[in-house]
Amino acid sequence: MRNWRDWRNDLLASPRFQAFAARFPLTRGITSRRAQQVFDLVAGFVYSQILHACVELNLFEHLRAGPRKLADLQRLTGLPEEGALRLLRAASALGLLEKRDGDSYGLGPHGAALLGNAGALSMVRHHKLLYADLVDPVAMLKGEGGPTSLSRFWAYARNGAREGVSDSEVASYSELMTQSQTLVRRDVLDTISLAGVRRLVDIGGGEGAFAAEAAQRWPELGVVTFDLPPVAARAQARFEQLELSGRAKGIGGNFHSDPLPEGADVMSLVRVLHDHDDGAAQSLLNRIARFLPSGGRLIVAEPMAGIAGSEAMGEAYFGFYLMAMGSGRPRGADEIEAMLQKAGFRQVRRLRTPRPMLASVIEAIR
Ligand SMILES: C[S@@+](CC[C@H](N)C(=O)[O-])C[C@H]1O[C@@H](n2cnc3c(N)ncnc32)[C@H](O)[C@@H]1O
Repeated sequence: MRNWRDWRNDLLASPRFQAFAARFPLTRGITSRRAQQVFDLVAGFVYSQILHACVELNLFEHLRAGPRKLADLQRLTGLPEEGALRLLRAASALGLLEKRDGDSYGLGPHGAALLGNAGALSMVRHHKLLYADLVDPVAMLKGEGGPTSLSRFWAYARNGAREGVSDSEVASYSELMTQSQTLVRRDVLDTISLAGVRRLVDIGGGEGAFAAEAAQRWPELGVVTFDLPPVAARAQARFEQLELSGRAKGIGGNFHSDPLPEGADVMSLVRVLHDHDDGAAQSLLNRIARFLPSGGRLIVAEPMAGIAGSEAMGEAYFGFYLMAMGSGRPRGADEIEAMLQKAGFRQVRRLRTPRPMLASVIEAIR
């Protein structure tokens, strides 16, 4: 059944209407804004590669203390004059840098914001693998082609970690997760309360950064990071280094098949659920419900689909990222709530986080 949207689309697709709207004073502004948005979609890959070049050449870091002259930047990046100018001009047009007096360049507002976000910078570097995998998105959507670079990077995505993973396989993804989690754990721990909690078990907790920060914020709290054995060993090393090992433990195991640690009054899943296909994700929630005592609480924190204002981050970015990884999908808060209820959780509620683009939080009581 055709509705007003189809009528609108007929109009927007018509070259004659486009030419008229671009000249007519009342539509000129809307038309040029829409044209810019469409162009950004067309050119997005090029923009990402310009950002990638800035990050790989450490340009933002070189400009941290203030603007520098072209010759200086050439020396620091090893680029010839022509290449340096091309990059500096392109990055300035994207708001990453800014042209200053004479032939000097400084940080632009986007470059300055990225400089303060080490996690985002490490994701930019990591995207080299993602973009290589997405070179033929249609083949990937058809399920054709061999193993992807991301499925090798995320060793547990291959087979639900049934065959185990080695120390060397977990090192690079664990470091990346710790770096990219900085703002997430701050936002999540600002959002939830752990007052009166005796034991928090962070399931799939990586190198233990979330559990360590929770323990630092709540001095009476005991914490456990449960993850695959080589990852849990990294968490244990972190706890020892932070002198938290009296209250913090890394326990190794497979959360699909091994018993989960006993005695938790709160469990958390931070950026874990979206990694898993529907069957595996539901069975993980079912298992957590079985291992939590009655009245125990589960915290699910991750970027969710369909968040107003961040729709592209959920279905577009994570949708395609997880497809390249070979497992999981972004889910909306409604879907996660339904899964929690199916697993036997009674009270399920959403908590408002400062930056839902990084993570939304759902709390559920067993
Ligand atoms: C995307 S990372 C998230 C890590 C951390 N929670 C964070 O937000 O940075 C997913 C984590 O789940 C762990 N994991 C994946 N499959 C697992 C399994 N079957 N058993 C235990 N841990 C698993 C991985 O080793 C990894 O540390």
